[in-house]
Amino acid sequence: MPAPRILAFAGSTRTASFNKKLVRIAAEGARAAGAGVTLVDLRDYPMPLYDGDLEAAQGQPEKARELKALFLDNDGLLLSCPEYNSSITGVLKNTIDWLSRPVPNEPPLAAFTGKVAALMSASPGALGGLRGLVHVRSILGNIGVIVLPDQIAVSRAGEAFDDKGQLKDAKQQTGIMGLGARLAGFLQKLRP
Ligand SMILES: Cc1cc2nc3c(=O)[nH]c(=O)nc-3n(C[C@H](O)[C@H](O)[C@H](O)COP(=O)(O)O)c2cc1C
Repeated sequence: MPAPRILAFAGSTRTASFNKKLVRIAAEGARAAGAGVTLVDLRDYPMPLYDGDLEAAQGQPEKARELKALFLDNDGLLLSCPEYNSSITGVLKNTIDWLSRPVPNEPPLAAFTGKVAALMSASPGALGGLRGLVHVRSILGNIGVIVLPDQIAVSRAGEAFDDKGQLKDAKQQTGIMGLGARLAGFLQKLRP
């Protein structure tokens, strides 16, 4: 049986992003559980702010088309989502908005429908970005993504990682790897 395929990324472009570190750990967990994982950086997929006039004149930006092809090629999503003003980051929302746009001969929301996602977040704050995940969960659910009930928010992220990018707290490290592994396991069960 072919291994489930998971696309993993953070909703941040920042080089030293805590969420990039976090999703990398979850990706390790998913790989250890037998999934094929493609880890990408939204910095490599720059897109203009969604603008209907721009879309009408030029169609989808090249990077949106490239990323959508990756979504279409994967069964699951591992997302680590920073919280900005209690909600989703602009870069993640803009990416979702572009990828949600149909192209001719494509079913609606093709990049999202039937995908399974696991969410996590990291923030220097005390809540770890938990409030933002409520919004990300709602948005993804509304565009056809099955979002696993488990999620983990890592608080005090400035002190949480060691210099190798692993979580200092062994229980937290196991938890995040386990989140990746649970997504892989869930996808395996869905396989025909
Ligand atoms: C515009 C803006 C708004 C923010 N709002 C919140 C917030 O509501 N809650 C929170 O915990 N952190 C907030 N932060 C701090 C982020 O959690 C912090 O910058 C974090 O490092 C971003 O994630 P990253 O490290 O993956 O880039 C905000 C940061 C910015 C730039």
